[in-house]
Amino acid sequence: MTIRIAGIGISLPEKVVTNLDLEQHMDTSDEWIRERSGIGARRVGGITSEMGLEAATKAIENAGITPTDIEFVLLATCTPDQIFPATSTQIAHGLGITCGSMDINAACAGFAYGYAAAFGMMLSPGGPDRVLVIGSDAMSKIVDWTDRGTAILFGDGAGAAVLERHEQGDLLGQDFGVAGDLREILYCDHEDTIVMEGREVFKRAVRAVTQSVKNALDQAGLTSADIDVVLPHQANIRIIEAVCSRLDIPMEKTHNVLEHTGNTSAASIPLAMAAAQDAGALQPGTIVVMTGFGAGMAWGTVVVRW
Ligand code: UT7
Repeated sequence: MTIRIAGIGISLPEKVVTNLDLEQHMDTSDEWIRERSGIGARRVGGITSEMGLEAATKAIENAGITPTDIEFVLLATCTPDQIFPATSTQIAHGLGITCGSMDINAACAGFAYGYAAAFGMMLSPGGPDRVLVIGSDAMSKIVDWTDRGTAILFGDGAGAAVLERHEQGDLLGQDFGVAGDLREILYCDHEDTIVMEGREVFKRAVRAVTQSVKNALDQAGLTSADIDVVLPHQANIRIIEAVCSRLDIPMEKTHNVLEHTGNTSAASIPLAMAAAQDAGALQPGTIVVMTGFGAGMAWGTVVVRW
């Protein structure tokens, strides 16, 4: 008996900001943003707990269960509603449940961390039978809307997955790490906005993700050729292309939403997962790689059999 994803749900706030909207406020262009990042629009005005609750509710419905079947809630976020209580407690409250919950901050890599943590909890003695793993981030509230280096990139959203014990599905390999000495290239202080050295983050991200996927595949005893589906963190399409080219993975195996979501931090992997599900790409036995990176230069990869 191992663990599978039984249901997926997403949430995106209604308000859309297109590249053309940004052109009105700053020295940038739709052409530049699309060419340098692959992003066409992003959603803004989201609240982490509200988006997380909507995504969670849909994931629970999609799994064909009720909220009381959930025995633990893990929320990956770097934009909690407040310092405390943990935003996951408010999502649990919204679902009408009182099981354990906690927030995880591994920035944009958070969903991969949450997935592996849930898996470990569920396999530990007396561990939960069903865990809700959510990635929800309201990046628009910490973006400096006058800084063209970051305002073009980020957006709000949430995605959630119900993990449950089942004979189908497995975690085959994992790789996690941080480079805490690189704080200065991507950070956000309390009551402040995102500071990012985009070019430096880009280079580090390509290297870190490539190596991390290699490590996780090695651990799983698999090669790039065995991968059916890649669910990469959606920061910049050129990062995804560079990683795929280095690993010899066709871009067709990646599922991308960033054209209409921008970089939604911890939400981006489950948003890509929902897109892959809609495309019919996630079937029992499918080999799926989820990989993310972000501030702290935290990176994380899980290789999963669907
Ligand atoms: O998810 C968390 C991790 N974050 C990331 O992964 C982000 C990684 N970084 C990136 O995605 C890219 O670095 C950006 C999309 C943010 C920027 O793209 P870039 O190709 O690295 O641009 P750059 O910063 O190297 O700037 C190139 C040029 C510069 O002009 P000069 O110095 O060559 O004359 C910039 O001033 O483009 C200029 N520029 C812009 N022009 C129009 C920078 N931002 C903009 C803009 N519109 N928004």
